[in-house]
Amino acid sequence: MTTFIQGLPKVELHLHIEGTLEPELMFELAKRNQISIPFSSPEEVQAAYQFDNLQSFLDIYYQGANVLIDEQDFYDLTWAYLLRCKQDNVVHTEIFFDPQTHTARGIAFETVINGIDRAMQDGKQQLGISSQIIMCFLRHLDQESAFETLGQAIAFKDKIIGVGLDSSEQGHPPEKFKEVFEAAINEGFLTVAHAGEEGPAENIHNAMKLLGVARVDHGVRCVEDPALVEQLIEERMPLTVCPLSNTKLKVFENMEDHNVIELLRKGLCITINSDDPAYFGGYMTDNFMAVASAIDVTEQELAQLSLNAIEASFISESEKGRLRGLVKQYCL
Ligand code: ADE
Ligand code: ZN
Repeated sequence: MTTFIQGLPKVELHLHIEGTLEPELMFELAKRNQISIPFSSPEEVQAAYQFDNLQSFLDIYYQGANVLIDEQDFYDLTWAYLLRCKQDNVVHTEIFFDPQTHTARGIAFETVINGIDRAMQDGKQQLGISSQIIMCFLRHLDQESAFETLGQAIAFKDKIIGVGLDSSEQGHPPEKFKEVFEAAINEGFLTVAHAGEEGPAENIHNAMKLLGVARVDHGVRCVEDPALVEQLIEERMPLTVCPLSNTKLKVFENMEDHNVIELLRKGLCITINSDDPAYFGGYMTDNFMAVASAIDVTEQELAQLSLNAIEASFISESEKGRLRGLVKQYCL
């Protein structure tokens, strides 16, 4: 099974680039930029990654991002992630970034996007990995700040395929961002949103109804509303599920309890993703492995997860056809 998973061509649809900051790179960048961090070694950083819930993770995650200053830092971060993609046979990835985490510290929007984009271009040329960028609004901030961020993104429209919504779900429901998502759609952006991770099934329903999402990020709490599950099946609404994230943040106590395979078998368009791999203990192959080790699953079902991700991706139909061909050929 390990060999099958490792070699399976994969597509990642739920990955926060700030969440790929490995402790070693955090230290290197802290030194390069003379930023003080409250840890004395990469091992100490790793040891601090014990979380009780989403908020306890977010607090440490936003602090980690403080070491990212120059365009080259964002390039190095993204390039390191793309090298991991190569190892894991990830052939296409759609990368989230949180502009407000950086602009609030005085880093220019263009510094961030240009660094990420340049690494993505090199990823295509040197590694053969295609990628796209989705910018997320931080839901703990107000809608006005999201509007300001949307305004900054217009000049970089050619580099950004969609907008998303992340950060603290509890107390910050989708309806808080209805108007800014409407404006983003009018500007031609596709939309996605984190919903039903820690928040109720109602957030999934409202993300679809009010934010016009093409995918739901996480969405695992949909099971609390059987009518919603039926709707997700009927509409083939993709869920970007992140198994190691969910157990690390205690959405599920154990991987054996995770509903990812149960939802796949019900006929939902389920995909597997890594979310914040540097913080949650693993990239794409690790996430597939964690599921396959805890839950009985066939190779055909694992391949279906890859085919679902291709279907749910924001690439052209011809490119989807090419990637499906890679998966089908691999499974022969
Ligand atoms: N930002 C980074 N990872 C996240 C997650 N799992 N949920 C919400 N916001 C996030
Ligand atoms: Zn996420």
